Parts: sequence; structure tokens; C-alpha cells
Amino acid sequence: MRLLHLSDLHIPRQPGPDTHGVDPRAVLKNLLRDCRRLTDLDLIVVSGDIADDGSPEGCADARDLVGAFARDRSAAQAWCVGNHDDRDAFTAVLGTGHLDAGGRDIGQRAPAAAQVSAATSRTDGLRVITLDSLVPGEVAGRLERVQLEWLRDVLVEPAPAGTVVTFHHPPLSVSPEWAAASLRNPSALADVLRGSDVRAVLCGHVHAQIAGFLAGIPVWVTPGVVTRIDLTAPRGVVRAVRGASATVVDLDDRAGPMFHVLHGRDSDAGAEVYLADGRTWQYLDHEEEPDDARAPTEPTS
Ligand SMILES: [Fe+2]
Repeated sequence: MRLLHLSDLHIPRQPGPDTHGVDPRAVLKNLLRDCRRLTDLDLIVVSGDIADDGSPEGCADARDLVGAFARDRSAAQAWCVGNHDDRDAFTAVLGTGHLDAGGRDIGQRAPAAAQVSAATSRTDGLRVITLDSLVPGEVAGRLERVQLEWLRDVLVEPAPAGTVVTFHHPPLSVSPEWAAASLRNPSALADVLRGSDVRAVLCGHVHAQIAGFLAGIPVWVTPGVVTRIDLTAPRGVVRAVRGASATVVDLDDRAGPMFHVLHGRDSDAGAEVYLADGRTWQYLDHEEEPDDARAPTEPTS
């Protein structure tokens, strides 16, 4: 079982470059083209921030671009919402977010959580569960009790090939800035996942590759598509740079889930896109970056 994990497409309503000069549709197209020789993909996972402005237009263009890639490879799809997404637009365009290779909705929505876009489906014996960590108007995320109770009920019965869980906000503390913007209740999720058949937890949001564990289960944060977040930025500053990436997740590897990052070709990779205040998430002027961020480093051999 082989997955391609994408996240943070940030497709805006209007085609063309966004306010930072990045064209998210072109970035996604280029990354998918660079992934064109991947073989044996069973599932494409997109872990949120599909539309930058929550728009149905952004969602629809993302669905069409990723959907064509999935269809050509006979791969199913599993999409979930991020903090930039809108549940109504997501549902209107993607339904449950669980689609077969032809784009047909194959998901079963969480019945008890009317305000939540969470669902489950099966792909060749693998159970895929999408959770909804969106808190409207906030950068940080949360999994409400009713959703966790549904998850606990779903996991009671193991699936033939185990389970993959995906949602937007990582249950890991990456840095002070990201700790305040990540999942607020990771221990509540850990209590539900502990001892289950979940083989991997796939998240996004940070636009950086990060690995950890929750209740002994591998947690993988895939780098963003639209930009990469440079975690070497000075304390208190969020710096986004150019560079799209994706992850191949191989569940059949003998050592357990294998996560392999694919970097799209980009002659501008590493070029600064924006700076933001790590506390307020307001954009900063480029010259507001502290001087020590550009201090020369000792040459290394
Ligand atoms: Fe996000």
C-alpha cells in the first residue's frame, strides 16, 4: 500500500499569483508533474489548507488538478479541512473528501458531528479516517469530544490492513510559535489511538517535514506544497520560502511506515516569500527581520 501525501495547497479564488507573488496552481501543477513517474500509488492524501481563502473555486481547482493525477494512476483520494478551509465549501466540492479514482464519493461521514467534516473509507483493506481539527477563525486546531468519541467507536473493530488517520494540525510541538498554533488537545487524541490498529498519523499545517510519535504511533508532518516554512528563522518569526514538497508513504516497508520526501524542481527554492509575527501571524515587512538572521556563518568544509 503506497500513499502520496500532499498538504497546504493554499489555492486562492482567483487564478494567478497570490499576494506574495507565488502562483499556487502553477506550484501544484509543477509538483504533480515532478511526481508523474511514481508508480503503484493506491491513495492520495491531502491534509488540509486546500483553498487559501476557503473558497469553493480554490477547492474545485485543487480537486480537479489532484483528481486528474489520481485518476491517471487509479488511486483513491482522502481530503480533510485545514484552518484556511471552509466546511461548507469543502463539502459542496469534495463531499466527505473520500473519493475513488473516478471521483465518486466513497466516504462515510461521522454521524454525530454535524459541525464537523470527518469521515472514513476503505481502500484495499486499509481504513482511512479523516478528522476535522478546524476551529473557525483560529490558526490552532482542536478535536472536539464528540468527534473523538466517534473515532473511538470506529476504531473498536480493526481493519484488515490497519488504519491511517489524517487531519491538519499536528499533535507535536515543533517550536514555541507552532506549539501555540498546533493541535490543542493531543493527549485526548492519544488516549483514543492508544492500542488501536492505526499505523500512521498524517498531518500538515507547518509546511515542514517533521516526524514524531503519539501513543507510540508514527506521526508524519509533510512539507507544504505552496511554500516551505524555514524553521531556522529567528525566535518569534515565521519565515516562508519557496519550495514545494510531497511525501510518499509506503506502508508495506518491512521496517514499518516509510516516509520519503519528494522535492519539486524549483530554481527559486529557498527564496523568501514572506515573514510573519510568530505570535499574531501578522505579516512583517522583509526589513523587519532581526539583523542576526543574516549574520555570516563560519565556512565549513
Ligand atoms: Fe494550516
